Amino acid sequence: MLNEEENSLIARVGKGTPMGELMRRYWLPALVSSELEADGDPLRLMLLGEKLLAFRDSDGRIGVIDHLCPHRCASLFYGRNEQGGIRCVYHGWKFDVAGNCLDMPNVPEPQQSFKERVKAPAYNVAERNGVVWVYMGDGEAPPLPEIPYNLLPPERLNITLLQRECNWLQALEGDIDGSHVDFLHGGSRGVADYPPDDPRRFGALNRAPEYEVTETDWGTLYGAKRAADPGESYWRIGQFIFPFWTVTPSSPFGAGAGVRAWVPMDDTHVMLFTFRRREITAPQIGADRVGFRDKGSEFLPNTTDWYGRFRMPINRENDHGLDRKLQREVNYTGVMGIIEQDHAITESMGPIAERTKEHLVVSDHMIAVTRRRLIEAARKLRDQGAAPPCSEDPSLYANVEGGYCLAPAADSIWDVYNAQFAAFQAAGGLNREVVSAPLKLEVR
Ligand code: FES
Ligand SMILES: [Fe+2]
Repeated sequence: MLNEEENSLIARVGKGTPMGELMRRYWLPALVSSELEADGDPLRLMLLGEKLLAFRDSDGRIGVIDHLCPHRCASLFYGRNEQGGIRCVYHGWKFDVAGNCLDMPNVPEPQQSFKERVKAPAYNVAERNGVVWVYMGDGEAPPLPEIPYNLLPPERLNITLLQRECNWLQALEGDIDGSHVDFLHGGSRGVADYPPDDPRRFGALNRAPEYEVTETDWGTLYGAKRAADPGESYWRIGQFIFPFWTVTPSSPFGAGAGVRAWVPMDDTHVMLFTFRRREITAPQIGADRVGFRDKGSEFLPNTTDWYGRFRMPINRENDHGLDRKLQREVNYTGVMGIIEQDHAITESMGPIAERTKEHLVVSDHMIAVTRRRLIEAARKLRDQGAAPPCSEDPSLYANVEGGYCLAPAADSIWDVYNAQFAAFQAAGGLNREVVSAPLKLEVR
């Protein structure tokens, strides 16, 4: 559990808060490229509690600027995106993607020179392989993070967005909570559901594994370990990477199954970016009871609202589709769909989880260590100006993978991770062939 001060510090991301300032030291995935067309509709973008406007100009350049016009604070969302900038429709002032005022047509010519002194607050923007990144810190932006999945061409990736109506951290904590998988998602699955050689059957056999948690240069790493066949252990290995990235062990280690970013929109809304290789088809078990849905077909239509993008139809108002008959007779949770189950349960915790009321146990070790690292990093930045992990060394993201695997029973988490990662790289890394069945990578 955390005390009030710690919970507020770790959850809140507005400008001037310790965690908000930490987040402003990183490039944030903010949009996918297809959301903006040249001279197309500008888009309301909520990021770290700031109301911003994103638009693409006639030359294809992207601007992310304060949505309020510097003249008298009309919203530039109502503006005209035309000929190299966005023009406020109140009095016609026009701004380019860097926030420079290009035109001030409501003042006589001699006073037009005033426009050189007017600037709409604008942030650094970069676009790479279908993703639009925003840097909201002061000063010069660091290089873009070298997330291997963002270095792949867009045709090899599925990038999906999903908004959740809760604080970013409780949503993220679901990803590094290896303990929930065999309840929330797998509570109705038994050993007999799995093919005889599928290592995930050991998860159904033993729902209380041992956990090993270790700190890394880029975040935290955990493994949930269970006895497997004689001489072997079954591991599920996942990661947290500063400031909001995760790798979940939902696929065989080495399948290159992707990374996830929980980008805070504000204190009570988060946008999940999932980067996944298109070739990955993780075999799903118990689909009739757990439910696997096509994410793209499950969204409400996007609206222009600050919170109008990539919403699920299930929410607190409809109890997230909870079906008590299904819960009693078929499905442990009563909610169909892995994504829906995560969505329901993390939103059920409230807008910001009340961590003062928790009782953490050994299966929450990864969560506790990750929180401690985040709090320490935010305090060090606030008190000493120390750069948080990865913020100045984008290459640290290159070492990040996860998944499930079998390994010699005596191996530690680092033995297993290093061997699996080396095998992954030796097999070509993300350029390896299509994976359509569980991998059994040979360890040593
Ligand atoms: S408020 Fe925008 S031009 Fe006047
Ligand atoms: Fe989950």
